Amino acid sequence: PALPSGLPWVGQGLEYRRDPLGFFLRYAGAGAVVRTRFVGTPIYLLNTSDAIEHVLVKNFRNYPKDAFQKRALEAVVGQGLFTSHGDVWMRRRRMMQPAFHKQLLTAHGSVAVKAANTWLESRREGASFDAYPEMMALTLEVVAETLFGADLSARARELGRAMEAVMLHAQFLFDTPLPLPAWLPTPGQRRFQAAMRALHAVVDDVVERRRRQGGTGDDLLGLLLEAQAGDGEPLTDAQLRDECLTLMIAGHETTAVALTLSLWLLARHPEAEATLRRELATVLGGREPTVADLPSLPYCEQVVKESLRLYPPAWGMSRVAEEDDRMDGVHVPAGTVVAWSQWALHRDAHHFPEPEAFRPERWADGLERRLPRFAYCPFGGGSRLCIGAGSALMVIRLVLATVLQRFHFDAEPGPAPEVLPAITLRPKGGVPLTPRKV
Ligand code: HEM
Repeated sequence: PALPSGLPWVGQGLEYRRDPLGFFLRYAGAGAVVRTRFVGTPIYLLNTSDAIEHVLVKNFRNYPKDAFQKRALEAVVGQGLFTSHGDVWMRRRRMMQPAFHKQLLTAHGSVAVKAANTWLESRREGASFDAYPEMMALTLEVVAETLFGADLSARARELGRAMEAVMLHAQFLFDTPLPLPAWLPTPGQRRFQAAMRALHAVVDDVVERRRRQGGTGDDLLGLLLEAQAGDGEPLTDAQLRDECLTLMIAGHETTAVALTLSLWLLARHPEAEATLRRELATVLGGREPTVADLPSLPYCEQVVKESLRLYPPAWGMSRVAEEDDRMDGVHVPAGTVVAWSQWALHRDAHHFPEPEAFRPERWADGLERRLPRFAYCPFGGGSRLCIGAGSALMVIRLVLATVLQRFHFDAEPGPAPEVLPAITLRPKGGVPLTPRKV
């Protein structure tokens, strides 16, 4: 492919804006490190596993999160686990990691099965529904209960609307080169602030209730409250709230997108669905799945891996070089943003023949072990690997295993759902599915 030309200084920002996914795909074969520029800021696109490994593992201290991401996300979740770097990040990560300990994931699993069963109760044969909002409500319930031990189902609508408004505003901040100052009372800013107040009110309520119960527990909220009561470097109330929001936002929409598109892919690939259903019938024989069953459901795992390959909810990542560096023979000046896209990496025909085809079988026989480290990276990698990866993989598999034993879903004919590369990838328009009992 041709190397990016673009206007001097202005560069490729507009080309990117028109079609972000196509932008990364277009330059995927143009070298390990491709130099572009977005209105003054040098942005280097990374196309190889080695280049990404350099940033996320070998020289990761030199690469904090960049200003684009920070501007968008700090407005929502402050300077916490997702946005911080160095020692601050390390302390927070250590504080929260035990909430994702293997034993606790078993509890996450049973919450997911319970939520899937409740959701199934309201399905009626032949009554179409839009999978995305349905899965958003389901994963909100799972995230709230696993992280905070709270039942937020009565407030799901209010929360969903507030999160939507907040993410829209974060996207606007991400896309806008020179955002207006936060104190300016524009209609957009007022909507954002009202939505933030609504989110804060819900989280404060959950925290307050737990405090009254004694504030203990080994879930995330229990750990944070314990840290607050400890004598190390206690979190302020605002920091505690920000961390709760970070995890809720990071865990809810991504998992919902993965579930929505997995259901759609299975609806449109009857052979894959039949193979999965055979596996479920043999291993479970109609009973509810548990975490202990997951190792006996390899095809279910392959389905999820393949779905996250084709539709990675985190479709792109970026960092900024703090000091001058060198990568694959290319000089990377301090201040350069480096970016890569799972959407493009996961469509590399060299690693994934017929990359657009949904073929769960390609993951049999240990493909993942044979791939270069970052050829497939739906959860990022290095020490900042998604903290919720284990939980998400478990929840997605258990929800699919619960739901597919009871229903088949018909999807509409026609092209695949259009996806929007917002802060996370999300379906644009609806993903209508029609249930049929099996
Ligand atoms: C980080 C993807 C589910 C919480 C990340 C990153 C990716 C990712 C790619 C790395 C971002 C970066 O380094 O720039 C996903 C996907 C999910 C998912 C695809 C579902 C399919 C979850 C869940 C939770 C969660 C369920 C929490 C319950 C987080 C947090 C971070 C993170 C807190 C920041 C970790 C750190 O920087 O130390 N996620 N995630 N994610 N994720 Fe997830």
